[in-house]
Amino acid sequence: MNVYDGQRIAAMLRERGYAQTDTYTDADIIILNTCAVRAKATDKVFSALGRIRTEKKPGAIMGIIGCVARESGTDAFRRVPELNFVLGPQSYHKLPEILENPDVRLFNIDLGGLEKFDELPMPNTSPALAYIPIQEGCNHCCTYCIVPYTRGREISRPFNDVIRDVTHAANTGATEICFLGQNVNGYKYTDIDGTTYRLSDLIRAAAKLDAVQRIRFTSSYPTEMTDDLIDMFRTEVKLLPFLNMPIQSGSQNVLTRMNRPYTLDLYIDIVDKLRSARPDIQISSDFIVGFPGETDADFEQTLEIARHIRYINSFSFKYSPRPHTAAALMPDQIPEKIKSQRLYILDKLLNDIQREFNDACIGQDMVCMLDGRDKTGHHWVYRTPYMQPCIVDTETAPTLAQIHVTDANKASLRGKII
Ligand code: 5AD
Ligand code: SF4
Repeated sequence: MNVYDGQRIAAMLRERGYAQTDTYTDADIIILNTCAVRAKATDKVFSALGRIRTEKKPGAIMGIIGCVARESGTDAFRRVPELNFVLGPQSYHKLPEILENPDVRLFNIDLGGLEKFDELPMPNTSPALAYIPIQEGCNHCCTYCIVPYTRGREISRPFNDVIRDVTHAANTGATEICFLGQNVNGYKYTDIDGTTYRLSDLIRAAAKLDAVQRIRFTSSYPTEMTDDLIDMFRTEVKLLPFLNMPIQSGSQNVLTRMNRPYTLDLYIDIVDKLRSARPDIQISSDFIVGFPGETDADFEQTLEIARHIRYINSFSFKYSPRPHTAAALMPDQIPEKIKSQRLYILDKLLNDIQREFNDACIGQDMVCMLDGRDKTGHHWVYRTPYMQPCIVDTETAPTLAQIHVTDANKASLRGKII
């Protein structure tokens, strides 16, 4: 979501004659696009601001946008008096006001809804992988999560607006579309004729465009995985066989306290249905360890479900108490040391499963998408349908390539274009 927001802002600035610099000491305007989901992310923003304010060019405009702006509100100005603007995740389209009037501090953390999508210019060229947001906010109110506070209640964008953006991306260079939303599979839009559109309708409409060759979406809430969407995995070949569907914990008690009211049996049932619709599908998850009151037995159940589902490419985090959330006030907060131990154990298991999956890919042919150069600058990195990086030596590097996987390690694959 933040990558997408950044692309829209960059397009707006380019249209006004700005160019990108590599070092903030050269910049005339410095914007930190921020995430508040864990305390560490927020802390990083303020330590970066501490550095930037002493090192920036005199007169350079600096400010923050996104969820930290909304989390800290006017307190951000108290902590960093040099800030010129503080704009929430739904008001960054007001940025041009600060360019026109840099002497007046700009502050807006309102939850305005969808205006930002229409007010900023679209980039003239799309990256090969185009992110298309289809909703804002989230109605799920998990007790640990700050997102319903920072991004507000869930609003789905009009179907026609989304398809207009997909078409624009397809006409300007996109090969792969990734639909985005905090609760992406909960997308639901009813137009003035009373027709209701779901994510499956968006996928079907995007797949009709010839330039769009691959479609994915993230991030999914388990109980919104309706049969029409599961069916898409059976019928729509452009939909990639990879799904991020966070379970967060394998303990029924913890899930209840997280306010994620699905049973493990239901979750497993949905995964089974997905696998029978698309046998090569792989699932990834997000996990939180050390949620308040999590016992050793609860944690053991998280390991069990990870082994059972055989998640690939997952993300795991230590629970981080956040302002404006119910879990931050719960008794039995877990000591940092235990959280770290549990994270270590879970990460090891997830890495082992990933490694086994990577090994199983050796010898397979997969259509992969170009991502860019690797860190050394000597090789190309492609992404498999399962988002594994695949290192390839090639002169030509087409956007999409059929790749024969020759080798694997824990984090990446190697392959040859065939
Ligand atoms: N602490 C730790 N992880 C969190 N997440 C959301 N809120 C918190 C929190 N307070 C994780 C969840 C979510 C991912 C985006 O971030 O796993 O799926
Ligand atoms: Fe946060 Fe995701 Fe839960 Fe929504 S569904 S409250 S974004 S963790």
